[in-house]
Amino acid sequence: MQVAGVMGWPARQSLSPRLHGFWLKEHRIDGAFIPLPTRPEDFSTALRGLRLAGFRGVNVTVPHKEAAFALADRFDPVARGAGAVNLLVFRDGGAEGFNTDVFGLAANLTETLGDAVMKEKPAVLLGAGGAARAAVLALDSLGANEIRILNRHRGRAESLAAALAPVARAKLSAAGLEGWSKAASDAALVVNATSAGMKDTPSLDVDFQTLPKDAAVCDIVYNPLETDLLKRAKQAGLRTVDGLGMLMHQAVPSFAAFFGITPKVTPALRDELEKALTDG
Ligand code: ATR
Repeated sequence: MQVAGVMGWPARQSLSPRLHGFWLKEHRIDGAFIPLPTRPEDFSTALRGLRLAGFRGVNVTVPHKEAAFALADRFDPVARGAGAVNLLVFRDGGAEGFNTDVFGLAANLTETLGDAVMKEKPAVLLGAGGAARAAVLALDSLGANEIRILNRHRGRAESLAAALAPVARAKLSAAGLEGWSKAASDAALVVNATSAGMKDTPSLDVDFQTLPKDAAVCDIVYNPLETDLLKRAKQAGLRTVDGLGMLMHQAVPSFAAFFGITPKVTPALRDELEKALTDG
């Protein structure tokens, strides 16, 4: 039996076991994917234990993505750019680190909005944490010509732009949230990579009338599925992309690494996860 899991803390409900469980069943694989709640201070010991116990690898989520980056023996180039690892594959006596969040967001945007959505166009990115860092790389990989990073604390946006400028092809700029009107006026896409809008917290209060009518709005937050931000974008007549697509797509390379089959993101999988979100 092939075994993998997801390490995170606090020990809250992760959708990943349900997601991988769906594909394991679909492909009739003799495998398991289990939740592994792990305190930050136990992360490196637990990781070593899982490797020695014969796990194929693990997904890593909040707050362990930087620790996983520090502990990996080798990286793929995307993980190096992101400075964070969300997939560790155990092989050849070591742990190889990948970042599949970048691929997940890019694949989801392409699937829902088409290949040309960002080609030589400007994007507005809200947030400057780990999720925003992955989003910069994803938007850059889709061909954006400019990524305007806006963050509540402007200094963090400036640090992120400076850190990624050497690896990004797009022009990166940074401002506080008050820079919204100027940044949004000709943007093709807005990505929310802040944690604002997660269950029981208010979404950012941005004015969608400022955006061009053919712009789209994507929220990385998937719980709730329709955030207040997406609701307001819809009301303004804009196309919207929710966070569940990114979650499903980032899991594809992980599943392939653990279980040897590249699975598909299908409407049936989305139904299963939507059910899990509604059941709580
Ligand atoms: P992650 O790694 O998930 O991105 P993080 O590093 O804690 O998490 O970053 C959270 C992001 O959400 C930050 O950009 C944060 O803004 P600050 O850097 O100014 O703190 C943003 N954020 C969280 N709550 C917010 C709120 N209520 N209003 C505006 N921005 C918020």
